[in-house]
Amino acid sequence: MAFGLQYGVERKARVVDEQLFEDDEAVVVRFNGGANAGHTLVVGNKKIVLHQVPSGIFYPEMLLYIGSGCVITPKKLNDEIADIRSAEISLDGRLFISSHAPLIQPHHLLYDEWFGGGIGTTKNGIGPCYADQALRAQGDAIRNIKFGEYLVDPGKGFSAVKRNLEEFLDLWPLAKADVIGKMEHFDAEVMKLQEYRSEDPLFLERLIQSGKNVFFEGAQSVLLDAVTGMTPYVTSSRTLAGAAYTGGDLSLKYHHKTIGIAKAIMSRVGRGPFISEFGGKQSDEYCAEGEGKAHAKEMEQKEWNLEELKHSDDAFLQGVYLRMKGNEYGATTGRPRRIGTLDLVQLKQSCALNGVNELYLNKFDALTEFGEMNLPGIPVVVAYRLDGKVIDYVPTTLAEMERVQPITECLPNIPDVSNVRAEKELPPAAKEMVEFIEEFVGVKVCGIGVGPERDAFVDTSMKERLK
Ligand code: IMP
Repeated sequence: MAFGLQYGVERKARVVDEQLFEDDEAVVVRFNGGANAGHTLVVGNKKIVLHQVPSGIFYPEMLLYIGSGCVITPKKLNDEIADIRSAEISLDGRLFISSHAPLIQPHHLLYDEWFGGGIGTTKNGIGPCYADQALRAQGDAIRNIKFGEYLVDPGKGFSAVKRNLEEFLDLWPLAKADVIGKMEHFDAEVMKLQEYRSEDPLFLERLIQSGKNVFFEGAQSVLLDAVTGMTPYVTSSRTLAGAAYTGGDLSLKYHHKTIGIAKAIMSRVGRGPFISEFGGKQSDEYCAEGEGKAHAKEMEQKEWNLEELKHSDDAFLQGVYLRMKGNEYGATTGRPRRIGTLDLVQLKQSCALNGVNELYLNKFDALTEFGEMNLPGIPVVVAYRLDGKVIDYVPTTLAEMERVQPITECLPNIPDVSNVRAEKELPPAAKEMVEFIEEFVGVKVCGIGVGPERDAFVDTSMKERLK
């Protein structure tokens, strides 16, 4: 399985793709989240942004399964399927959706639209949908509608979804909506997904018995976990490695390997604590202005002068510089991502808690930027100070997260590595950085990303540098 170790924008898709390339017998499984995820895949001249469909679509033999831990937005899923088909990629007999997966209903979307802003959600109705699932209301008060339940009794499903929408509108009359129009639309979209329903709970088990391998693909990442993340600034599903087997509908006896993916310069979308953020609170508030639209990519390009930013000794401005140089903006919305230096305390903790065997570091090439800036080297976080005490774990409460200060160490600058493709060609400072991370975190770095292209990748698993 592969999953993210930071805030969910670690460019997981490229590592997943790399792994799948080696295994055409794979069934790729999503086990959490929904349309809030965005995996951009570029293969050849084809670029496809996946939200709910698992990666692996470019490999015609691969099967794709959306597990019971996911939530389904029928309209968006149908749009995604149409996009994939228009790229002449067949999904016939390849895509399967767990009968248990909850449907995101119109009132979930409205609720998130109206109340998700404070957290900075993606407005996909994710939280309200999982909340209705946890509520377990039944009979006339039924709130959670599973995909399979709707298909076997569309009449019952339709009236429950309609009633939920009407109740929401009664409660929040300002959120006006055309109930009949929305319902007809919703119903048609769910029914269009009929052919993808997987009603057999042993679906993956049987595939494994027939010789297939299952590859779990995580979404949203460790720090956004609904329980151990910093509530309320989290998503609403479990994002940890262990969730793969509950949300992905398979026995954990098949577990083989856990791949963790991180970025050498961290970034985050949405609100909430981010210990190593350049510019701290100022950056958080700036990035959130106008729900992220006030400083979207084109705005920042007009607003700032890169040369001036580069030489600044102000942490907030350094963050703006790294964002602009690293093109750190939301793939669909263009909203600015908050930028932070690599936090090794957090990375070590995430690797340990999730049993990571192999670590991949994306955006390694971006570290070169530090050499141009007004900094003594590449800063990495090696400990925290909380109320005068040095600690080596991530605090568990929001109040402590707001007080904790990072303790950084500077590593030697790294020359341009964007054209490097083999480990032996890495400059000594880059090898030193990789070794420092491995030693600190206690996990082997098996690959580094050195650019956006699919082949801009250095396999470091052979440890040639240690010879
Ligand atoms: P929600 O998952 O849409 O409810 O959003 C909750 C928080 O998780 C917000 O801060 C989002 O920006 C963040 N989030 C949700 N999905 C992703 C993702 O795929 N990548 C990065 N952040 C995400």
